[in-house]
Amino acid sequence: MQAPETITDAAERALWAQLDGARLPCHVAIIMDGNGRWAQQRGLPRLAGHQQGVKTVRRIVELCGDLQGIRALTLYAFSTENWSRPAAEIGGLMQLLKTYLRIELAEMLKNDIRLTTIGHGEELPAEAREELERTKMRTADNKKFILNLALNYGARRSLTDMARTLARQAQAGQLDPAAITPELVNDTLETSFLPPLEMVLRTSGEMRLSNFLLWEMSYAELVVTPVLWPDFSRCDFLRTLLEFQQRERRFGATTPRQ
Ligand code: IPE
Ligand code: IPE
Ligand code: MG
Repeated sequence: MQAPETITDAAERALWAQLDGARLPCHVAIIMDGNGRWAQQRGLPRLAGHQQGVKTVRRIVELCGDLQGIRALTLYAFSTENWSRPAAEIGGLMQLLKTYLRIELAEMLKNDIRLTTIGHGEELPAEAREELERTKMRTADNKKFILNLALNYGARRSLTDMARTLARQAQAGQLDPAAITPELVNDTLETSFLPPLEMVLRTSGEMRLSNFLLWEMSYAELVVTPVLWPDFSRCDFLRTLLEFQQRERRFGATTPRQ
């Protein structure tokens, strides 16, 4: 596909040229990992890594806007397990979330980006929660692209919520257990408003899922890059999209050639 004229970097333009604009994943989810190690390598506090990580978020959201084909980007920003980190780090992350939303609102409005969240956002500190509610409301009618933040998110908890919802409906006599299908499970999950998840990317080389979107990623392509999240560049993301396009997605069938 053709790179927008505003992109002058030759290496990036070459990557754009190799991409097939018709075969971009409609929904990409990223486990943004490696902020702590990035800071540690430089003798800096972990929070410096998270600050740098926010810059990568800006960079990748902007690139998704340029690409016009990825309809949703889910970013794993805080897991249900991350509460076990030191209080100062959690506080710093919440502060960063708040300032990110404040600063980015104008860009989201300008670029037709809708901000959504998954996870138990109601358990976040009040200031972050209020900023989130404001941003969600202000961007609710935006259509071009969904930026979905997974905050206080854990797939096991999400699946448990879904089970509870269905059980309540059954208990109230509104649902026959025999009518529970994979489609109904899908529609009951908090992620039902998102397009199907087609690609999951993890930075920093860790080969694990860390309780992220376990149901939704059943047939997503997994891409792991050794690059730490603060270092993750536009070109790195374009390369992961190229890797996605080189995969043969069989969905359990035989290959089309056979
Ligand atoms: C990911 O970076 C960011 C969050 C979990 C919020 P880490 O903080 O996990 O970085 P590492 O894994 O310690 O390098
Ligand atoms: C996963 O990263 C969670 C987020 C990116 C928010 P972690 O760094 O918390 O995961 P583990 O500890 O390596 O599994
Ligand atoms: Mg980590």
